[in-house]
Amino acid sequence: MVLSTLGEKEHISTRTVLLKDISEGGFTFFTNYSSRKAQAIELNSQVTLLFPWFAMERQVSISGFAEKISEPESTDYFTSRPWSSQIGAWASAQSAPLASREELEQRFAGAAEKWPEGSLVPKPPHWGGYRVLPISIEFWQGRYSRLHDRLRYERANSNAEWEITRYYP
Ligand SMILES: Cc1cc2nc3c(=O)[nH]c(=O)nc-3n(C[C@H](O)[C@H](O)[C@H](O)COP(=O)(O)O)c2cc1C
Repeated sequence: MVLSTLGEKEHISTRTVLLKDISEGGFTFFTNYSSRKAQAIELNSQVTLLFPWFAMERQVSISGFAEKISEPESTDYFTSRPWSSQIGAWASAQSAPLASREELEQRFAGAAEKWPEGSLVPKPPHWGGYRVLPISIEFWQGRYSRLHDRLRYERANSNAEWEITRYYP
């Protein structure tokens, strides 16, 4: 899904992240808590998520608020990941400038030496999940003659009832 955030000086940034879970009324993804997206969320927790499915002429756009999930939840998922992904999480200072590819590979090798394959790799403190609690979900379906369907579910907050409105395409 495509995650957009609003950072410092109203600077919008956007990137793809993997939707890992839909639970507790929200959409969960995992990342580095020091990354550019995490810094933006720190300043402004309002985000959007976009799921484009061009082949099906379908789109779902979600607007909501991101909050960090609990450490035990993040640890559970981290532990389930392949060893190389776990080591990669230790090696990457995501979104910080990197002098060379070699530097990244050296950091990977250093972490791999510390936690060899088969050993229990601890979750880095700077790594974890966010859950996006939606306040608006819009479903768009392409149809004949550009008479597309657009239905938006909206609610005032994450405890309120959803209101459904159809919009002109
Ligand atoms: C298909 C795909 C999936 C990705 N999944 C993730 C993800 O789950 N978490 C993540 O932090 N970055 C993921 N990325 C990398 C991000 O798009 C992005 O480059 C990175 O998170 C740094 O973003 P930032 O500097 O805006 O924080 C993915 C990229 C692609 C193309």
